[in-house]
Amino acid sequence: MEGSYEASVEAASWLRGRLGAAAPQVGLVCGSGLGALAQDLEEPRSFPYEEIPGFPRSTVAGHAGRLAVGRLGGAPCAVLQGRFHLYEGYSPAQVVLGVRTLARLGVHTLVLTNAAGSLRPDLRPGHLLVLRDHIDLPGLAGRNPLVGPNDERFGPRFPSMCGAYDPSLRRLALAAAPAALRARPGVYCGVGGPSYETPAECRLLRRLGAHAVGMSTVAEAVAARHCGLRLLGLSLITNAAPCGAEDDEDDEDEGAEALGEDLGHQEVLAAAQDGAGHLRALLATLAPHLAQRPAAP
Ligand code: HPA
Repeated sequence: MEGSYEASVEAASWLRGRLGAAAPQVGLVCGSGLGALAQDLEEPRSFPYEEIPGFPRSTVAGHAGRLAVGRLGGAPCAVLQGRFHLYEGYSPAQVVLGVRTLARLGVHTLVLTNAAGSLRPDLRPGHLLVLRDHIDLPGLAGRNPLVGPNDERFGPRFPSMCGAYDPSLRRLALAAAPAALRARPGVYCGVGGPSYETPAECRLLRRLGAHAVGMSTVAEAVAARHCGLRLLGLSLITNAAPCGAEDDEDDEDEGAEALGEDLGHQEVLAAAQDGAGHLRALLATLAPHLAQRPAAP
């Protein structure tokens, strides 16, 4: 079955046969427009998704659709350049196949990156949110990747999601982030997309306690924690989500100014590409820490 344990074993053994002894320990998932994060890999080798057995295809602009393997700051690393989203029509299990394959390959620490819209006035394009927690709206509504029979070889039936984002890695990331990123901790809200949020939806998400919103990451985080991976989540803010003002219910133009009349995927990609250099610097600094195998729980 797509996304099953067997599917991740098949993809991982296909890759292992081509990688030999170079098993990756650190995994990185590149968000929209953030494929350049793989440029710092030393001795890179890459595998288009269409060649990896069972892998879905990347259908979205800004997602190259390949797995790159190499060393990042000396650490053996596998980079998913392009992820799968619910809005592409993939099932939650397909969305997380890449992450589960990395786990089967031997990855113990995973960095999930994304491009996100800000729900707070002090969080601006170019800033970085280091994830302290998330709200998985599709997951809460039943589109959780763990729905269905549980395979104990991945993990337990009812995994805890408390402390899902590793506090030590978060502290390191906050301390090491270049000043230009104005890094701060916060809560990411995952939505289904692909339409952007209405102003009323943005205000709802803000009242729920979210700092940023995006269409990815949460299902991967759930699957990663289910199989015991240590997790760091990084949201590069690419735009202000159109929250409007609290009391503007009668204002027909609400949100237009915050969002920009023509905000769309191309603008999000351009803003992500602008910030990617700082994220690359951060990841290079973090690499030796990411490579340290976490102590068994
Ligand atoms: N909303 C949802 N997803 C996003 C946004 C947004 O404003 N920006 C980048 N991804």
